[in-house]
Amino acid sequence: MIEEIRALKEEKNAVILAHNYQIGPVQDIADYVGDSLELSRAAAATDCDVIIFCGVDFMAETASILSPQKTVVLPASGACCPMAHMITADQLREVKAAYPDAAAVCYVNSTAEVKAESDICCTSANGVAVVNSLDQRQIIFVPDGNLGKYVARHTKKEIIPWTGYCYVHDRYTPDEVREARRLHPKAEVLVHPECRPEVIDLADYAYSTSGMGKHAQKSIASEFIIGTEVGMLYRLKKENPDKKFYPLSEKAICENMKKTDLGKVLLALQTLEPQVKVSQEISNKARRSIERMLAVK
Ligand code: 13P
Ligand code: SF4
Repeated sequence: MIEEIRALKEEKNAVILAHNYQIGPVQDIADYVGDSLELSRAAAATDCDVIIFCGVDFMAETASILSPQKTVVLPASGACCPMAHMITADQLREVKAAYPDAAAVCYVNSTAEVKAESDICCTSANGVAVVNSLDQRQIIFVPDGNLGKYVARHTKKEIIPWTGYCYVHDRYTPDEVREARRLHPKAEVLVHPECRPEVIDLADYAYSTSGMGKHAQKSIASEFIIGTEVGMLYRLKKENPDKKFYPLSEKAICENMKKTDLGKVLLALQTLEPQVKVSQEISNKARRSIERMLAVK
């Protein structure tokens, strides 16, 4: 199957992008594995005709918005991020009407319609930098309430967070962090900013998924407790064979990120289906928000 995927990739001039939460074999076949920000940049930079996006819907939509002339395929049809659907464009318009002087920042885990209604996007890697780059003092932050609260702690601006959440990260508890530390007293605790504030308070660091990867490589620690989706441990172990990684919870599994496998990647290359497309009107507006984010250093 791997041979066939490689041959078809050449034939169709395709690139395979995979999020850090994808299963090991999919990460291994991908041309690029990364966090949401890195994958957005990779999608914007590629000159291939076809993008096979191993991730969830909003990621493939972002790729399609950035490269409307390319064929973008999401191998696992229906792989979605539930948090992205926790606010609608109508709801965002209502919040904007209530705070007319505020800028609207949307986490990239959002629908294309919500991106179109926002001033700028951000990811967990650049949320603070994006918010600080804006002129407005008040910032509406959607949809992730935990990331909104995390950003609020690291900026002087007033953040008005929406109440969405990621079910994978929101269910970690402070007791789980304390128990993991008891079991692995020498380990550093790295958690994702989508976790609750009381969980982040007990961790050593909060990073995006690729931020965790960079930290693990440069840290002098040799053991790490990882507070994000378990797929991240595959990459961490592969890149750091001499270090030890323990999941903060074995139950931290994003069902939608696990819907892609090699069979679906092969089928996607054979059929170039299911494609992800965004209407031109929404796409043009959403592109402004994404490109504005990509311009923030
Ligand atoms: P990052 O990989 O950008 O940290 O995002 C985590 C996530 O939950 C993506 O859906
Ligand atoms: Fe969405 Fe959470 Fe899954 Fe990421 S891990 S895709 S935020 S549900």
